Amino acid sequence: MGHDAATLAALLSGAGFIAPEEETAELLKCAAGDPQLLDSLIARRLTGEPLAWITGSISFCNLEIRVDPGVYVPRWHSEALARGAVVRLPPKGTAVDLCTGSGAIARTLMSRRPAARVVASDIEERAVACAKANGVEAYLGDLFAPFPPTLEGRVDVVVGVVPYVPTPELPLLQRDTFAFESPLAYDGGPDGTEILRRVLADAKRFLCPGGALLLELGGGQDRALRSDLARLGYTDVSVLHDEEGDVRGIEATLG
Ligand SMILES: C[S@@+](CC[C@H](N)C(=O)[O-])C[C@H]1O[C@@H](n2cnc3c(N)ncnc32)[C@H](O)[C@@H]1O
Repeated sequence: MGHDAATLAALLSGAGFIAPEEETAELLKCAAGDPQLLDSLIARRLTGEPLAWITGSISFCNLEIRVDPGVYVPRWHSEALARGAVVRLPPKGTAVDLCTGSGAIARTLMSRRPAARVVASDIEERAVACAKANGVEAYLGDLFAPFPPTLEGRVDVVVGVVPYVPTPELPLLQRDTFAFESPLAYDGGPDGTEILRRVLADAKRFLCPGGALLLELGGGQDRALRSDLARLGYTDVSVLHDEEGDVRGIEATLG
């Protein structure tokens, strides 16, 4: 296999990758001049394995985040949620990042609010290990279950990219996503809101009055959650959009 950048970019482009030049640069950097290693990295990428698993990291909110194989790869469209959470976190406040995966959102909060306490949870051991390797205080378990009770009523920000894809839509996810990433990262139950609704109810116990809840979700789910939000006492509910105008999340205040 030819190893110059143009040949590799053409190979990746021909295989349908949408950013062949950028990917080529990352693969070349990762191989550090070792042609055999480069061949093996390219072969892995051509199977559709996520680039971040191959290179070991990804950029998120201008931070280099380690991403171990098997751990959900943070997406650019979640950066707005992370930035929104930073805005709501007082300098010495406390934040919870649910379903943290690699810990990308928690790390963003830690880097922008170095005096704050940031804790995170994930139900997958390899995700918790990866988040810890990224310096995050991460706990293994279901949503809020692993957090110390001393946090109840004291959290300024609860943020999360929890699974929200409706189960029937899982097969429609990108081929590579479906082939490589765990359905546990995506499956939000019959209409996608099962875990989101549990978070709304449980966050109430942990948030302080005036605390903020920021959750990523898909189109239409903001409307589905309105009555739960009102019933549970959340106010100032706003919908977050991405650069393309699609609904990407909600932000709400407790009390
Ligand atoms: C879509 S990924 C988001 C990861 C990370 N927040 C990010 O944006 O890169 C969802 C994560 O939720 C975790 N997860 C799924 N169900 C969970 C649960 N009940 N409690 C805690 N974590 C859960 C998965 O293991 C996965 O890492």
